[in-house]
Amino acid sequence: MDVSGPILRPYQPSDFDTLLAMDQLCFPKDIAYGRREMRSYLQSEGSRCMVAEVSGAVAGFILTNRDEEIAHIVTLDVLEPYRRQSVGSLLLQAAEHEAASTGAALMVLETATTNQPAIALWKKHGYRETGTIENYYGRGLNAFEMVKFFGQKSLVKVQP
Ligand SMILES: CC(C)(COP(=O)(O)OP(=O)(O)OC[C@H]1O[C@@H](n2cnc3c(N)ncnc32)[C@H](O)[C@@H]1OP(=O)(O)O)[C@@H](O)C(=O)NCCC(=O)NCCS
Repeated sequence: MDVSGPILRPYQPSDFDTLLAMDQLCFPKDIAYGRREMRSYLQSEGSRCMVAEVSGAVAGFILTNRDEEIAHIVTLDVLEPYRRQSVGSLLLQAAEHEAASTGAALMVLETATTNQPAIALWKKHGYRETGTIENYYGRGLNAFEMVKFFGQKSLVKVQP
């Protein structure tokens, strides 16, 4: 068996069911995307999705979208057996590179205030909290909004 990886590649429509199942494994029921929501994110204008494979198996993916100079992380998912092996970091860096090199000024995301692994990952990669969104994932499930500027001068004002 080939034991290479992780290898990053663009999303293909045939990945859809795998990524949907992965999102449902990676997040609690009330946070994971449903089929319709996931399809709508993947098909929306400005959507980008990158998949990570380890030894030929899909290990994770990152889904972003883009509105002019603002890039937005919709989700970053890594299956449990592949965690703490830099798969998430590689996907994040690839998405940041794609966004910055095509003119985005910043990356923004929302993450559950209780999701310590994710918060640690975002902070390690230079994301800073810019606010708390109450009930973002439903009643009592709050999110931090987090932002990373890529260094270009931005016209967008984000509250500190
Ligand atoms: C969050 C997630 C994407 C991290 O993926 P990963 O491939 O394990 O991340 P990496 O190996 O690149 O970790 C990079 C850094 O993030 C931090 N980190 C990641 N997982 C962590 C954990 N369980 N506890 C503490 N810190 C953690 C560490 O600083 C780590 O660096 P280190 O391993 O050198 O200490 C993964 O745990 C996941 O898919 N979780 C479920 C879905 C989710 O919460 N997605 C993010 C919100 S959209």
